[in-house]
Amino acid sequence: MTCKKWLAITISPQLKPQCEMIVMAQAPRDGTFVDNWDRWETGLIDPRSPVIEPESFPGTIIPVKKPRERHGHMTTKPVDLLRHLIRLFSPKGAIVFDPFAGSGSSGVAARMEERGFVGTEIDANMAQSAERRIEIAI
Ligand SMILES: C[S@@+](CC[C@H](N)C(=O)[O-])C[C@H]1O[C@@H](n2cnc3c(N)ncnc32)[C@H](O)[C@@H]1O
Repeated sequence: MTCKKWLAITISPQLKPQCEMIVMAQAPRDGTFVDNWDRWETGLIDPRSPVIEPESFPGTIIPVKKPRERHGHMTTKPVDLLRHLIRLFSPKGAIVFDPFAGSGSSGVAARMEERGFVGTEIDANMAQSAERRIEIAI
């Protein structure tokens, strides 16, 4: 193997990305945060039962392992991360909406956390397999 070929497969122009940003957004508040929660049951965080690092108050850095099983999708998210976010940001019985559902990880997490789920996915095959995956999730 030439030196050039060797370099091409062993060196890289970039470091491995080790964090991913999560964007939080919400509709404008209705009164104080507490008024808003009383009325809409949203806008406050419930830190009592975080899935990740359950012994500590949930923070803005969420260490989580990449999922081993990809369910036929390139960017499958870890179900534990989604369960964690669902528990923090929604009460039981709420409806979780994922407009970019992919392999259905958020639907699986929503079911596990006793929330309803509505998802949309542009890839029809992926949508079907997500639906199957969510149906059998416990
Ligand atoms: C980052 S992936 C979501 C991965 C998902 N969280 C999971 O764990 O599998 C984004 C998904 O959005 C879908 N998508 C892209 N544009 C869309 C659109 N306009 N409407 C619905 N889904 C769309 C893509 O097909 C892709 O599966």
